[in-house]
This record gives sequence, C-alpha cells and structure tokens, in this order.
Amino acid sequence: MTIVFAYPGNEHLSQKICDKKGYEHGQVVWRNFPDNESYVRVKSDVKNKNVIVLCSLNNPNEKIIPLIFFSRILKEHSAKNCILISPYLAYMRQDNVFNEGEGVTAKYFADILSNYFDQLITIDPHAHRLHLSDIYKIPTVVIHSVEAIADYLKNEKEECVLIGPDSESQQWVKPISEKIDIPFIVVSKKRISDEDVQLNLPDISQYEGRKAIIIDDIISSGATICQLSELLCEKKINKIEVIVIHPIFSPTVEEKVYKAGVNKIVSCNTVQHETNAMDISLLIAKAL
Ligand code: R5P
Repeated sequence: MTIVFAYPGNEHLSQKICDKKGYEHGQVVWRNFPDNESYVRVKSDVKNKNVIVLCSLNNPNEKIIPLIFFSRILKEHSAKNCILISPYLAYMRQDNVFNEGEGVTAKYFADILSNYFDQLITIDPHAHRLHLSDIYKIPTVVIHSVEAIADYLKNEKEECVLIGPDSESQQWVKPISEKIDIPFIVVSKKRISDEDVQLNLPDISQYEGRKAIIIDDIISSGATICQLSELLCEKKINKIEVIVIHPIFSPTVEEKVYKAGVNKIVSCNTVQHETNAMDISLLIAKAL
C-alpha cells in the first residue's frame, strides 16, 4: 500500500498523482510554534506502507527540519520506506569549490536527504557539472520535463523559434525541437557574477518576425532572460515567451523580465505558481 503526504504548497500536484495512481492521501499537521520551531504530527497509519512525501524544495531552509522530523516519525511508526518527491531540488549550484573557504554544499545537502529518505525523485535538477548519483547515497530518479513542454507547445499556432539561453539549455531545446518540429538556437553565455551575464547571440536574421520561445530551468536574478530579451528585440524579434521549468522567481524578477520585453512567462507545476501551464504529474506517475 502506498500513501502520499503533501508538504504545504504541494497539494495540487499530490492530488493529481493520487488520482492517477489510486494512492491514499495521508493526513499530517505541519505547523510552527509561536517561536518558529517546527511541529509535525502524522495522523494516518503508516505501518508497513510505502510512504511518499511530496515537497518541492524552493525555500529549502524552512522545509528541511520539518522533513527530517517527518522521516523520523515515519521510522518510529514502522513505515516500510519513504520516498521524497522533490520536483524542484535545492542546493545544486555549489557543486564545487569555486573560491577558497567555500564548501561543496550540494554534497552537504545531499548527505542530509540521503540520511533521512530511501529514495529521491526530482525533475530536471540544476546539475550542470555532476550527476545526482555522484553525491546522493540513496537511489535517485531524474524526470525530464521535455515531454510536458513539447505537449504544451504542440498547440502553438504562430511561426516560432526555440531559444536556449546557454549551452546547458540544449538538453531541453534540442529534443523539444525534434519532437514538434520548431527550429532552435542556443546562445553562448558567460557568467560574470550572481547578477550579471554576458550573452553572445548567433545570427538569427532568418528568424526575424517570428515569435521567440526561450526555455530555461530557472530564473534567478533575471539577468539571463532580461539580456536575451533585449538582444532579441534589437534583432526585431518582438514577441517573446519564456518557458521556465521551475517557477521559483520573486515578483520583482517577473516585473523586470516583462520590462525587458518578455510578453509571457509560463512554467511547469514543479512549484505551485500562477504561471503554471504545464503539468508534470503524469511524468511523475509514470516514474512511480
Ligand atoms: C544557468 O545555469 C541556469 O540554467 C539559468 O539560466 C540561470 O540560473 C538563470 O540565472 P539568472 O536569472 O540569475 O541569470
């Protein structure tokens, strides 16, 4: 028997997964005491059950303690195992020591999750220089959002060009382009600092007048998307849509991106957000 618990903010996705798989919904209380310490109470019977906890790890610091408490409670109540589904996985950036005195925090975070969960399932992690299996001690499953994005773009009526804003984004634009027959280009990018990048746009004159669909995994400071959008506008590409896999940006970033010329931002529902337009529940259900 499998039972699914949703961390607050993950209820929609959890509902869809339970509907698709016929799993039981778990009852759990997640709250804070007035001084902000965490309180967790598992109210469903978990004995001998496969347990899934669905928790996207945007704002990870506030979620990690309740998740650890949850996992400890499950073990004390004889759950068979506990799978963490974290559609957005945190702390993947610092996968190396870039400056003296830093640590490989991606590994430290992986150690914490590996100590408390039996398996991890995630969607397109922000892993550019390593594989999850390099740092996680538990089995990991990586789901790719390509199918969900291609499905969304199948209904596109206008003439378009897909744009990957850096070499890493080739992993999305290339297979999507092959699936739905829309051409793609990949921009070269050099990161100058947390909030600054330098983009080099290849010749796109053949796509003048088309709609540009930029595909990226996250928008952090907005520097990448803003600069790209300004460069596209200079090349007379004035209709710009951004597809972001994980919508974890702050409201000020959205505003900045729209000001830079973007007309529309849509996202996958890896994190519940008003831009959600692509559903990844079927991909998770298949992986389960
Ligand atoms: C880069 O590796 C990522 O795919 C994103 O392009 C990047 O993190 C976006 O960051 P920012 O919004 O700060 O340019």
